[in-house]
Parts: sequence; C-alpha cells; structure tokens
Amino acid sequence: MIEFLATSSKLASALRRQEHRANLILTVFAGEKLSGQSMAADELTGGLITRRLERDGFDPRIKHCLVIDSDLSVEGLDKIIVVGLGQRSKLTLSGLRRALTTAFEMSRDVARSEHLLFPTLDVELRGLTSEQFAEVVAEYACLLDYEINHRKTRQLDTEPQAHLKSMTLLCQQWNLSAVKRGLKFGKLVGEATNRCRDMVNEPSDTMNPQKLASIAKEIAGKSEGMTSCRVLTKKSIVKLGMEGVLAVNAGSEDEALFIDMTYTPPGGATEEVIGLVGKGITFDSGGLGIKDGEGMGDMKNDMGGAAAVLCTMALLPILKPKVSVRAVVAATDNLVDAKSMRPGNILKMMSGLTVEIRHTDAEGRLTLADALHYVQTRGKATKVIDLATLTGAVEDALGDLITGVFGNDPAFTRKFMQNALLAGEAMHDFPLPEEYRSENDSAMADLSNDGTGPGHIAAAWFLREFIQEHVSWVHCDIAATSFRVNARGVDPAGASGVGVRTLTRFLLNYA
Ligand code: BES
Ligand code: MN
Ligand code: ZN
Repeated sequence: MIEFLATSSKLASALRRQEHRANLILTVFAGEKLSGQSMAADELTGGLITRRLERDGFDPRIKHCLVIDSDLSVEGLDKIIVVGLGQRSKLTLSGLRRALTTAFEMSRDVARSEHLLFPTLDVELRGLTSEQFAEVVAEYACLLDYEINHRKTRQLDTEPQAHLKSMTLLCQQWNLSAVKRGLKFGKLVGEATNRCRDMVNEPSDTMNPQKLASIAKEIAGKSEGMTSCRVLTKKSIVKLGMEGVLAVNAGSEDEALFIDMTYTPPGGATEEVIGLVGKGITFDSGGLGIKDGEGMGDMKNDMGGAAAVLCTMALLPILKPKVSVRAVVAATDNLVDAKSMRPGNILKMMSGLTVEIRHTDAEGRLTLADALHYVQTRGKATKVIDLATLTGAVEDALGDLITGVFGNDPAFTRKFMQNALLAGEAMHDFPLPEEYRSENDSAMADLSNDGTGPGHIAAAWFLREFIQEHVSWVHCDIAATSFRVNARGVDPAGASGVGVRTLTRFLLNYA
C-alpha cells in the first residue's frame, strides 16, 4: 500500500525532510524552458537536468520519458524521471493519464523507486483542477504498483517487482487541501480496482460462489451499518422461481448463491434506487456446448462484473454517495454433468417469460435476466446498471480496449458515459434498434438464449426484455476489457478491474 502525502514546502526542503532518498518526477512541456519545480531541480543539481536533456536530445513529446541518475550530490535525491507532456495547450486528461502511465512504469521498472516526489503541474490546465490531477496521480500510482496475485515460489532470472512506499505531491498552500482530497479519492479507487483485479485473477476453485458471498458479507460487515447483505441459498432461489440461475447451476457441485446488498446513504434511503448487477459466473466451461481449450482457458474471469460491483460497494460507506444503491449477483459456475441444462429445455424465468435454451454457453444472460428482474421488483431499483463478461462478439466490434455500452434511455446512458470518460475507462455505446429485437425469437418460447445477428446486440436485447418500462438501464459488455492476455496501458496482463472507476464516479456524481 502506498502512502500518499502532500506538502506545500519547496523542493529542496521537501528533499531534506525525507527520511529516505527519493526519486523525483518532473514534467516538461514541448517548446518551453524548464520552469517552476523543474527549474528548481535543475538549479539544485547544478544544471544536470538541462545538460542531460540536451545531450540526449530529449523531445518532450507526450509520454516521452528519461531517467537521470543524479550524482547523489543533492541531499535526499536519487534519480530523476523526466516525462514529456507535449504542447501545453493540447494536454488533456487522457493525455495526462498516458504520460503518467509511462512515467510510473519507468519509475517502477527502471528507477525502481520506493519513494517518489512529484510536483503538481504549475499551471492550472483548462478543465483540469489540482484535485483532479492529484486524483489521477494517486489512482495511476496504485494501478501501476499492482503485482498480480500469483503463487510463484521462485523467481528465475528476473528481479522481483519494485513497489512504491510513498509518493509526495509538492503543491502550493492554496491548493494543499484540494490536492489532499484528490489523493485520498484516487488511492481509494485505485486500491479498489486492484482488489477487483485480485478477485478476477484468483482461480475459480477458490473464487467460487461461496467466496464471492463471503466477500460481500465482509464488505457489509465493515460498512458501519451503512450496507447490509443477504445471501439467498438454493432454497430461496427455487422459491423465487429463478429458473435461469437454476438451469446454469444444474451441472454444478457448488450450489448457486444469490447475493443481495443494500447501501443506504447517511441521510436515509432515497426514492431513487440505483440497482447494480454483476455477472457472477465463477467459471464458464460452456456447459454441454463445451468451449474448446483455448476458449475455456481464462474463463475464471467470467465473474469480472460481479467483482467490479462488489469492489465498488466496498467504497460507498467511505465515499458516501447520496443515493440508495442495491447490488445483486447471481453466483454460480457453468459446468458439464449429467444434470447440466440441455439445449431444447425451456425455462420459466422469475419474470414469467419463457426461454428456450439453444446454447448452454449463453449462460450469462440467463442468470442476469433473473438478477435484473429481482433488483427491479424486490430491490425496487428505479435505475439499473449491469456489468457482464457477456459476449465474444463485443471484442470483434471494439477490440480489447473499449467496453461496449447499451441502454434504453439516452439521457441515462449519456450520464453514464460522461462518468466513464471522467474515469478514463474507454467505452462506446451501441444502438439497440427495434429491428434486432426478433433476433431472440424462439419457436418454442418467448425467447431463445442464442440470438442471431450481431451477438453483443442480440445479448443486450435479451437483457432488455427483462427491464421494466419505467426503468432506465445501462448494460456494459466487459467480455473483452475485464481480462486481457497482454498488458494494455495502465492495465497489466490478466484482470483489469474495469468498471470500479466508472461506477464509483457515477454514484458519487449522481446526486
Ligand atoms: N463468458 C462468455 C463470454 C466471454 C468470451 C467472456 C470471451 C470473456 C471472454 C459467454 O458466456 C459466452 O460464452 N458467450 C457466447 C454466447 C454465444 C454462445 C451465443 C459467445 O460470445 O460466444
Ligand atoms: Mn458462456
Ligand atoms: Zn459466460
């Protein structure tokens, strides 16, 4: 865990006051001379930075980075990491995020920093407050400090990953409290995202329905009474008529569990209730329509939506958004057994709609349909957001950078997308034309579970069939973004923790 600090003292005295030698991050804009703290650092080191930048022909294009070994002549200073921010007038929040990603990677892998000093940008950038700057710095420092929860017992030829112990932002007296606020928020969200990554990276034999439920209970237990949690067992799931959940669970040894959490804001429950639904398939073999080895390889990640929802819920009692939140997860694996659901079977879902199973690997929409119905009826949710690793088709459409978003209320979807943008999570919204509704038609029931046509849109239409007329709903298909074979940007290989950053900001900014 990184300790984040802010100080309004000058660079030299901040360095002197450190208990350990620190590395320093300096930002440089293209076409500008060193200024502010960068100039101060240059003076402190007797012009070392200018000389090195000139010698290496450093081009402060955005993301360009250079590590300078100081000669240790300055008390408290070890290495200097210079990062280019491009032209000042063109810097955006996402540009800053990309530059920070590179700078923190260099700081971790090249400079192997334990303690970092980072002057906040001298000038308030358009649309970027010092609070936001501090927020992003802390968030990205946490995200890049993440080390996967592997179980390696030895490390051949590679050095263990370096970890930050402290990061100190140098700021001014006037923005000190804003910077502290930003750091606090960024650290919370960054660490919650890392927790989400851990959950998704955890193998499915340990990250099973029981474990998801116990995490939910633990979160409620630590909420000082603001969040409650009920876990419904099979008996109640049967009683509620959730045949979608039961069908997927039919081939399992572990019984399905239905997690139901309620966050109540300090001012008391609100009329508006935001329902959160996470797909909680702890392992997806495909069922009788079994996946091949490659397709099944990473299917422990099929609870990425559930993990994002739970890790967001853990933040609410700390951040205290002013709106009631109801979060539900139907947790089960999807396995192969004589009792497994079969193609051709017809289910009566909790909502009363009937579904013909046409493909046992389209299991997510079956569990989600019951969870969506439950959160609107029992949970009294007036607005619903679901996160689900739902379709391979969304990757064909958007690749593994961008989450696919769907909705039934343009204004609500826009609100959600604005927070995704603010959070720096790439998302794109798709249409749900009425013409595609019939892709889920079945000769034998109200719906078929393996819609034809574009798979991500058919799946979203299937979910929409379970959304009530007056309820606004957003669906995020995170199949391609929740878990990646290769690292991408701030995300390491494996689980990305997608969703936590957007959901948290959405709820905080909601009311
Ligand atoms: N969990 C998968 C989707 C998925 C694919 C998640 C890749 C993460 C990475 C989902 O349950 C699934 O199998 N979907 C099928 C649906 C099809 C059978 C209609 C798909 O997309 O192939
Ligand atoms: Mn599947
Ligand atoms: Zn699945």
